[in-house]
Amino acid sequence: MKTEILDIRELDCAAGAVERAGALLRAGEVVAIPTETVYGLAANAFDSTAVSKIFAAKGRPMDNPLIVHIAYIQELFDLAACIPTAALRLAERFWPGPLTIILPKKDCIPDAVSAGLSTVAVRMPSHRGANAVIRAAGVPLAAPSANISGFPSPTDVRHVQDDMTGRVAAICDGGSSEFGVESTVVTLATPIPRLLRPGSVTREQLEEVLGTVEVDAAVLHPLAENQTASSPGMKYRHYAPKAEIRVVRGDVQSYFSFIKKYAQPEDFALCFEEDAEGCPLPCITFGTADDPFSQTRRLFDALRELDEQGAKIVWARDPNPQGVGLAVCNRLYRAAGFRFANEPPVVGITGATGAGKSTLTQLFVQHGFTAVDADAVAREVTAEGSPVLQTLAETFGADILLPDGGLNRPVLAARAFANPESTEKLNRITHPAILERIRSRTAELTAAGKPAVLDVPLLFESGLDSICTATVHNTAAKATRMARLPARDGLTDVQIEQRMNAQHDDAYFTSRSTYTIQNENNTDLQAAVSQILQQIEK
Ligand code: TXA
Ligand code: MG
Repeated sequence: MKTEILDIRELDCAAGAVERAGALLRAGEVVAIPTETVYGLAANAFDSTAVSKIFAAKGRPMDNPLIVHIAYIQELFDLAACIPTAALRLAERFWPGPLTIILPKKDCIPDAVSAGLSTVAVRMPSHRGANAVIRAAGVPLAAPSANISGFPSPTDVRHVQDDMTGRVAAICDGGSSEFGVESTVVTLATPIPRLLRPGSVTREQLEEVLGTVEVDAAVLHPLAENQTASSPGMKYRHYAPKAEIRVVRGDVQSYFSFIKKYAQPEDFALCFEEDAEGCPLPCITFGTADDPFSQTRRLFDALRELDEQGAKIVWARDPNPQGVGLAVCNRLYRAAGFRFANEPPVVGITGATGAGKSTLTQLFVQHGFTAVDADAVAREVTAEGSPVLQTLAETFGADILLPDGGLNRPVLAARAFANPESTEKLNRITHPAILERIRSRTAELTAAGKPAVLDVPLLFESGLDSICTATVHNTAAKATRMARLPARDGLTDVQIEQRMNAQHDDAYFTSRSTYTIQNENNTDLQAAVSQILQQIEK
């Protein structure tokens, strides 16, 4: 296919080019258009055949929905089935501009656009060229970023030409993108507004209009294998250059000393402008440390430059995640596949009851680790007034609550462990909240440079082993465990037998763990911990 280049940089003398783009779009063709965020690959949002050409040109997975771009606020009423006042307040404050709002969709939106979801993402760009082309087309335009799927988004017409020449009918040249990262995506289709993708409109700005806005966990963390994405785009490794990016946590001094120690001479640095002079590697810069807008403008271009230079391994500075910095971190971490070069270790400890997990955990704490204890987290999520406790009371009876509103553990235990179905019910209510809290607490610790030790009986069953650098099966002879338990829990011998028999055997844990420790006496235990720490350090 021949790709026309339409110059719309000087809009006042580009009437012909704009009209040509509009005509191609009306005829069901795909046209790349500039926007203030990144370039988009546009087609008539009401025409499934035209929209399917976008997916073909990008090689985009069909289950990833598109944003619909409008030029007039009234068009929102043609697309969304219901428009809460919150949406209008957002539109009033941030449109035209880099904000995408997700709302329940009208039936006229083809499945190809919404990828089968019941919602539609809408945005009104502020780029004058984008606005002119949408008006010329006379219809809302579905448009993802104009890159080959998985590549960094294009912030200059040169990038679009690299990726799309021969694949689309036309490319409109509108100069370099003002912001350089894609729009902020917020959904109003959830009970509490949720930030799905950070951009130049910040969470704090959204909260000024909406009150509380939740940040989706996928913004800064990889999705767990069993998690579904609130925004399908989040499950793909996005923005990825061909080079392997490794983010180095910490300030510029620790960055330099880290790369001096570990980098090879042929590696590259991705750092801030002011770091370039003292940098021991050839470097590409992305803005200045204290100006996140300069970083958003440069990041995608910098990633493409690294590929052009043939970089294989790239050591990147870690941006400050405040304000617009959240968008920079989100794109950089995804480009890096969430690979952090100097991430502190997370050690997961598991094993059968009574083998002394807490003693072992405390030894790691003495070596500077912070403990995250599943039992303690379970108590927190069922604390007085918590949503989990409320659900438990609705499910198991109001008398599981104490007069002061707290949880009466023995009464709940009697009900919940009465039969397997009740236990299953209990787990379904409590486990997701416990998991989420363990994950986020661990992420906070490691982001702050602190090693963590997780004491989690269901480490493998919950999938939490996937966030661990190493896993330790803590075990002891049955006699030792029997002797330890009554002192701790005040259980009878029969109850202990029952508990032990209900648990996995040693082989289950040993076959899944990085290390197995015989926890019989303190001297051996200390030696085993030192050995593990040495190996992790390596
Ligand atoms: O700045 C931007 O938003 C650019 C320019 C061209 O407007 N567009 C853009 O589109 O970044 P794209 O397709 O690369 O990213 C759209 C993101 C994807 O992560 C997609 O999964 C999500 O928005 N999305 C679209 N519709 C959605 C929906 N109904 N529910 C949840 N997520 C949705
Ligand atoms: Mg994209």
